[in-house]
Amino acid sequence: MTPDEVIDNIIKSGLKGRGGGGFPTGLKWKFTKGADADKKYIICNADEGDPGAFMDRSVLEGDPNAVLEGMIIAGYAIGSDSAYIYCRAEYPKAIARLRQAIAQAKKKNFLGDNIFGTNFTFNIKIKEGAGAFVCGEETALIASIEGKRGMPKFRPPFPAQSGLWGKPTNINNVETLANVPWIILNGGDAYAAYGTDDSKGTKVFAMAGKVKRTGLVEVPMGCSINEVIFDICDGIVDDKKFKAVQMGGPSGGCITADQCDIKIDYKEINKTGAIMG
Ligand SMILES: Cc1cc2nc3c(=O)[nH]c(=O)nc-3n(C[C@H](O)[C@H](O)[C@H](O)COP(=O)(O)O)c2cc1C
Repeated sequence: MTPDEVIDNIIKSGLKGRGGGGFPTGLKWKFTKGADADKKYIICNADEGDPGAFMDRSVLEGDPNAVLEGMIIAGYAIGSDSAYIYCRAEYPKAIARLRQAIAQAKKKNFLGDNIFGTNFTFNIKIKEGAGAFVCGEETALIASIEGKRGMPKFRPPFPAQSGLWGKPTNINNVETLANVPWIILNGGDAYAAYGTDDSKGTKVFAMAGKVKRTGLVEVPMGCSINEVIFDICDGIVDDKKFKAVQMGGPSGGCITADQCDIKIDYKEINKTGAIMG
């Protein structure tokens, strides 16, 4: 595939950013590809600061290769040769597994200079975050990589125009990037077959509250919150009354029990004031 064909497939898939904002991933890639610059960066946001969230940690520890592959494909598509994974230092196992996966990928020339004898070169570095929740926000995260205090900046300019060291930068969440290899392997249309009109594919949730079965749940978009709580997590501990779910971390909101028959869909969830991230 050419870089444009890769981006077209991601647009067709309907994939939206899993980091909370729900921005269409293919469009973000297109904007970064279209920015005129001698250097561009890819960043994987692995800060995962929301209390109780461990969706990204499980992917990083269990299948770091999927994230690396997503980043390599993103780099090829937008014309970048350098990338960072910004991972919280509280995830030592994830960092160790990433380092190992990067070393293995370099050995096989999936990463490094002239990948598979082409003129595409791509390298990934890891930057460990020092535990500030705000550094999950993309502009603060970029400042932190640059060695500055992690404080958000007003946008525009968006990172796609001026990001890391003033260069166009594509920043995506771990879960977003881990979806990319499947989309490229199976095609954007196959991915878009899962989900609702507005939100495609599947979403992973970390069920950390008073449900009988806690842990990670991956459901197709369009399934209801009630289905997750009662059918998958088997309801509330001691069969107490279900009152509300808190979704989207400190930036999100609470969805009361009477609203929980709504579909898991960016548009529907955002209407409640919560965030899908
Ligand atoms: C206060 C704050 C904290 C955030 N924390 C995270 C985070 O921990 N991980 C993440 O992926 N995105 C986080 N975001 C969203 C990022 O700014 C950004 O939108 C995201 O990394 C883009 O990737 P995506 O398009 O794949 O979702 C946060 C945003 C805000 C405002």
